[in-house]
Amino acid sequence: MESLVARIKQDGTVLGEDILKVDSFLTHQVDPKLMREIGRVFAEKFKTAGLTKIVTIEASGNVPAAYVAEELGIPMIFAKKAKNVTMTDDLLTADVYSFTKKVTSTIQISQKFLSEQDKVLVIDDFLANGQAALGLISILKTAGCEVAGVGIVIEKSFQTGRALVEETGIPVFSLARVAGFDQGQVVFREADL
Ligand code: G4P
Repeated sequence: MESLVARIKQDGTVLGEDILKVDSFLTHQVDPKLMREIGRVFAEKFKTAGLTKIVTIEASGNVPAAYVAEELGIPMIFAKKAKNVTMTDDLLTADVYSFTKKVTSTIQISQKFLSEQDKVLVIDDFLANGQAALGLISILKTAGCEVAGVGIVIEKSFQTGRALVEETGIPVFSLARVAGFDQGQVVFREADL
């Protein structure tokens, strides 16, 4: 997605060895115009796929996922990282280890929102080590859903996430693929969409 790549080049900042900061348009402040375009690109790709739900994980996944769901006219569900008092239904859970934060969290989705009739597209803002995506896939498989793919805004292709997701047989569709960083500049490779 050319406009996304241009925006990363313009506003992204490389932090240390392996982190791309995009908090001015994606992970903290949000650019709705860019998000709408992201929604349209994924919706165009999947408009005939018979999707029934978009699934993501809080917090930053919620933003692109909501725009994709809006374009397709289907609900979006986000996995929660902490249980709250209103979550009284049966929960589907998966343990997700964060290499960045060095902690394991249990993510959860109420069982009532997913069924064997669902065909799901997973959407997330970043694909790094793939643990969040694998956790979501595990929950969706437990619920008996069909998983049509994993849609990613920014994939860090030098980390293991894409290979780990593809090993499950589920295809990955990334709008921007980062090959690496060179002297503070982002080096891209050809994206999927
Ligand atoms: P993984 O899910 O692919 O295994 O990723 P990892 O454990 O390495 O990353 C944990 C968190 O850090 C995730 O957000 C992920 O989106 C984010 N992250 C990973 N690499 C980058 C990066 O280069 N830039 C930015 N901005 N974020 C990155 P999270 O903990 O779920 O956070 P949030 O969505 O609640 O903010």
